[in-house]
Amino acid sequence: MPTATASPDSAEARRRLADTLTAEGMLTEGSPWYEAFATVPREIFVPRFTLSGPDGRRAVEPGDADYLDAVYTDTTLTIRHDDAGTPISSSSQPSVMARMLEAFAVPADARILEIGTGTGYNTALLCHLLGAVQVTTIDVDPELTATARLRLADIGHHPTVVTGDGTQGHLAGAPYDGILATCGVDRLPIAWTRQVRPGGTIVTNIGNGVVRLTVDQDGTAEGRFLPDDAMFMRARPAPDHTAPAAGQFTGLIMKETGTRREMGIPVPADEVIHTLAHEVWMLQHDVLSMSFETDPATLVHGLVHPSSGSWARITPQAGDRVTVEHGGARDLWTERLDLAVQWAAAHRPRPGVYTLTIGSCGTHTLRRTGTSPVYWTF
Ligand SMILES: C[S@@+](CC[C@H](N)C(=O)[O-])C[C@H]1O[C@@H](n2cnc3c(N)ncnc32)[C@H](O)[C@@H]1O
Repeated sequence: MPTATASPDSAEARRRLADTLTAEGMLTEGSPWYEAFATVPREIFVPRFTLSGPDGRRAVEPGDADYLDAVYTDTTLTIRHDDAGTPISSSSQPSVMARMLEAFAVPADARILEIGTGTGYNTALLCHLLGAVQVTTIDVDPELTATARLRLADIGHHPTVVTGDGTQGHLAGAPYDGILATCGVDRLPIAWTRQVRPGGTIVTNIGNGVVRLTVDQDGTAEGRFLPDDAMFMRARPAPDHTAPAAGQFTGLIMKETGTRREMGIPVPADEVIHTLAHEVWMLQHDVLSMSFETDPATLVHGLVHPSSGSWARITPQAGDRVTVEHGGARDLWTERLDLAVQWAAAHRPRPGVYTLTIGSCGTHTLRRTGTSPVYWTF
């Protein structure tokens, strides 16, 4: 385990970060989280991390000239990748953390569960404000929880740190006044609504945004999304789990033959494939999208739903026309096109206009409010 020490020079950098988060509106004026950001030394939790840039990945360590600057820049600091090179743990971008913590407006005596301990930095912020005795944190990766436990203890915090699958919550500590998830989920786990007391709060990334839900007496939960787009590392069922990656399906997309048709479309194909429509991220959360050049002049797009084997290949033609070839049980292209076109017609709203309701048995109802309201239950 790399050594972790608080830098004597970091007090000023911490306060500067807290000031920047306030100036940019990520922390409200007078926010109780201001002192947490200004007090907790982030470098304790990230003695080594990688930064991604145009030239690829670069490891950063305490001896490096830009180490402390990087620690106190508003950047995600990645600490772990899976075998395929996909990031699976990081200290999240402070501005995103700040927005989530602000949304997680629990009372000072709240007992809370954090899902996704990671480095332990966010846990430390929670401990600073609420007191460690009120904080339970869980991560699926035993090495991460062991390291975070030690680093938290180094700065005097002793929360309950658990190793396990946080999508099951942590029943031993329930009921909680709130659950804050720092990994994303595709559907809200039913264990979370069942382990939060009525009136309690759940804040999590789901789809393309962060939602703040309030749990009701009858076990349902409801709330609005925060204004901006957000995409966190997905919760994985086990530490060694590797999620399917789009690149694995290039051969399928390029070679498979299926039902073929040509059509005109009102929105460019690449905008449909890489849409920011929140309803697409919610309803097609398990569909992978990809685009690649087959020759210098042609950009071919693909959609794959790994668990059903459904796929679609979309080849732009002249003007607004595309050739679509698809196979499997789901017509992924038609599903996505309908959603993306409706979203574009509604002036491309951001997550803040959507609400989510979770039924007592786990049904999800996503509502888009505003001038053309619509809802989906799934
Ligand atoms: C973005 S990182 C969390 C950042 C962390 N809060 C911090 O301040 O460093 C997401 C974390 O979620 C964890 N994770 C992924 N799947 C999980 C699961 N099923 N249960 C609990 N934690 C999980 C990952 O191991 C990873 O450490």
